[in-house]
Amino acid sequence: MVSPELKKQHDGALMPTYGRFPVALESGRGAVAVDTQGKEYVDFGSGIGVNSLGYADPEWVAAVQEQAAKLQHISNLYYSPVQVAFAHALCRTAKMGRVFLGNSGAEANECAIKLARKYSFDKYGEGRSKIIGLRNSFHGRTVTTLAATGQDSFHQYFYPFTEGFLFVEAGNVTGLIDALVENEGAVCAVMLECIQGEGGVIPMEKAYLQEVRKLCDERDLLLLIDEVQTGAGRTGRFFAYEHAGIVPDVVTMAKGLGGGLPIGACLCTERLADVMGPGMHGSTFGGNPVVCAGAQIVLDRLAQPGFLDAVTEKGEYLRTRLAAMPHVAQVRGMGLMRGAVLDKGTAREVAERCLEGGLLVLTAKTLLRFLPPLTITQEELDRGLEILESVLKTL
Ligand SMILES: Cc1ncc(COP(=O)(O)O)c(C=O)c1O
Repeated sequence: MVSPELKKQHDGALMPTYGRFPVALESGRGAVAVDTQGKEYVDFGSGIGVNSLGYADPEWVAAVQEQAAKLQHISNLYYSPVQVAFAHALCRTAKMGRVFLGNSGAEANECAIKLARKYSFDKYGEGRSKIIGLRNSFHGRTVTTLAATGQDSFHQYFYPFTEGFLFVEAGNVTGLIDALVENEGAVCAVMLECIQGEGGVIPMEKAYLQEVRKLCDERDLLLLIDEVQTGAGRTGRFFAYEHAGIVPDVVTMAKGLGGGLPIGACLCTERLADVMGPGMHGSTFGGNPVVCAGAQIVLDRLAQPGFLDAVTEKGEYLRTRLAAMPHVAQVRGMGLMRGAVLDKGTAREVAERCLEGGLLVLTAKTLLRFLPPLTITQEELDRGLEILESVLKTL
């Protein structure tokens, strides 16, 4: 699976920041990855929700190759027709006014945080800069996005963190109101995920999201929704918040939007279009033409008639099959973002045994987590589910 030589070379060169599975992947097609020894794995993780069109999608590959051969990078000091066309398509699809393009989810959230604080500063002056987040959230690994993450386990070692973040219990409207009252005049925004992904695939109730939107409107607070994991069609709609019938002021995306190349996007409504001015934010690689060419293919595919409905249908099939499996106590999530609570064994142990059987699955906290490519076929789904079922049967 992973040769001792490669493991040794890895350990001698890379910081040990990841608990890697013992497999070295070399190629892939559709939802199937192939390791260095030629063994195949159905991939129910898609690079943590990144390879939305699977491996080696012919159209995506062609667009990326063509753009790389033509012009691989220009700085943001110049105009790029590919970047402009993609930004327009993204704003149109997202029904948002403007976008800032970066390279990752954390970066997109950094932009959202800066934008919220600047909006408040311009309108109300200093001191109205706090952001209320939810406990158990995850927003990234930079010092500020760690500070915005509502899990104590992330608030260690790297002090001092960025100030101005406080947390309330997810799903509890009274707790949010209490925090707003306690911090009257000091809060500029509320930041949340519609489904807490890293936190264990925990969806927020529709009524809760609608109430948060209302509370933000009443106080002129910006609602920042982090759709880094849930966005770009993952839940069967372009954004997960569409299921709740709300619209945020700022939404962040990354992961699946690029289809496999690094992208981050912070989108805002038209009324916030001019909050950020020249020189206030930037990124050397942000909006890179090769990345935009690939992401454009992702957008085009998501817009094809029936594509998102198929995500919903496949997600429902996945949910039903998972729920009927031995030792699955609960299935959570939406569309092709699912988590399975086990009543026996650990998620890590099951994931390792699945790997041996030819299936890549993710974990989140104590759950098994599933984020397959949005293009996964019925045959690939069934093949992966059979492997999982055979592992669960032996627990
Ligand atoms: C909801 C959410 N926000 C932000 C991030 C951070 O994204 P990135 O790793 O691209 O910085 C993640 C990553 O898992 C995420 O799930």
